[in-house]
Amino acid sequence: INEKFVQCLINYSHNTNTSISNVVYTQTNSSYSSILYASIQNLRFTANTTPKPLVIVTPLEVSHIQGTIICSQRQGLQIRIRSGGHDYEGLSYVSQVPFVIIDLINLRQVQVDAKKSTAWVQSGATIGELYYSISEKSRTLGFPAGVCPTVGIGGLLSGGGYGFLMRKYGLAADHVIDAQMVDVKGRFLDRKSMGEDLFWAIRGGGGASFGVIVAWKIKLVQVPSTVTVFNVPRTLEQNATNIIHKWQRVASKLDERLTIRINIERVNSTQTGNQTIQASFESMFAGDLDELIPLMEKKFPELGLVREDCTEMSWIESAVFLAGFSGQPTQVLRNRTQPNLVFFKNKSDYVKVPIPDAALEGLWPMLYEEGIESPLIEITPYGGRMDEISESETPFPQRAGNLFHIRHHVNWKEEGDEAAQRHINWTRRVYSYIEPYVSKSPRAAYLNYRDLDIGVNNNGYTSYEQASVWGLKYFNNNFHRLAKVKTKVDPRNFFRNEQSIPPLKERK
Ligand code: FDA
Repeated sequence: INEKFVQCLINYSHNTNTSISNVVYTQTNSSYSSILYASIQNLRFTANTTPKPLVIVTPLEVSHIQGTIICSQRQGLQIRIRSGGHDYEGLSYVSQVPFVIIDLINLRQVQVDAKKSTAWVQSGATIGELYYSISEKSRTLGFPAGVCPTVGIGGLLSGGGYGFLMRKYGLAADHVIDAQMVDVKGRFLDRKSMGEDLFWAIRGGGGASFGVIVAWKIKLVQVPSTVTVFNVPRTLEQNATNIIHKWQRVASKLDERLTIRINIERVNSTQTGNQTIQASFESMFAGDLDELIPLMEKKFPELGLVREDCTEMSWIESAVFLAGFSGQPTQVLRNRTQPNLVFFKNKSDYVKVPIPDAALEGLWPMLYEEGIESPLIEITPYGGRMDEISESETPFPQRAGNLFHIRHHVNWKEEGDEAAQRHINWTRRVYSYIEPYVSKSPRAAYLNYRDLDIGVNNNGYTSYEQASVWGLKYFNNNFHRLAKVKTKVDPRNFFRNEQSIPPLKERK
């Protein structure tokens, strides 16, 4: 299959500007492994036993993508599409059936038009590269995307994408105004030629079900020349539970320029030397300190924020601060490699009614559990602009009525299956414990926090009903419309994976 596939690519691409042979890596190529591992974020998918692609293609131009799609179908191979490689379950580079990776690492141009407040960004760019390119053109333009700079544009925009400007502006996907993609027939489409249904689907419905999205035109947003950040830790001994109690009631109603996210983890108390739980209140306010302090004193005095906790800076410097690179030059945002890779597992939830204090207190012992290396509960407030966008505007339905979003996360360094199972089981226990207090019917989840525990497709034919088990959790009432779009654009379900949208009725 390998040889026939590569020959097909070469034949298909003989008229292209750049030879495809230079960007096709079979398993015997000396660069195969370095390219495969370059953007893998989760050590869970680096084991020898993890299935590997027969071939990796790193396209230099659209025709290389077209050729790969056509030749994969001819040879009966599946495709995995990878932009930044951050998929929590490795779906962009792992498959149980023979497969090829299209890795968009070489397609990562960013062209910012500051006058029009727009940009064209190719899927293989990272959000750090996008942020940096915007900052080169303007101090008062920004983009409401994610926090970690190495996340790829392709996955982020096609699954939603949120960060510290979400309460003011909504999701990254809400700001897409055009896109270029290659569909199952190898056609190169833009918004006009793909039509509004497909254009709707790829802005939150997950790109990998519909084709390869090459580039996105995005609307940039205004940010003030000075923003204010803080990160204030409070342990249980410093009343963390009470402060979280108040946070749950105010965070989604605060001035929409203010986002206060909570990271809850186990630490060693500096006061007692014993282990304790610490909630870090991490924030970006799109305004200056003189406005922030009275606002906090009025609405959220329980945190006890003082001027000394805060720093004023430009928006691009705040991206560096929030990514955990405080004090480093803004160029750090262009760095695509993660220095300290770990094993990890995530699950997600949405909360519509504050979680009672007693339930929170029941959660704390779970963070102390022996043998669990680095558990983290990350809580992100909704409200603001998110309340104003209708549930059907994009496939991402988690809008008005949600107070906040939870990411149940654990990472670990210990090797081996037993350690992996122990940590994964921990996330499942937390997920089960928190069930009475989170959204129901469906229990909502965030596509970009991919979690295969909530349901998977068959390896091959999957009925709409079977896929609804996980599909309704990510997309609720939008799931049916996504399946209708899929039926129209990929009726034979070529673009499929463990959680891809199935056609309503698969055509054989
Ligand atoms: P990757 O390349 O793995 O792709 C993810 C999915 O999208 C796969 O199914 C893939 O096939 C598909 N895909 C990718 N490119 C495509 C293309 N061009 N066309 C079609 N399909 C394509 N999220 C968030 O909203 N805010 C945040 O702050 C963060 N922070 C964060 C930090 C870290 C360390 C991780 C690991 C993850 C996040 N995320 C996040 C989640 C992130 O948004 C999610 O994993 C994205 O899907 C990652 O996009 P990548 O392109 O990097 O992933």
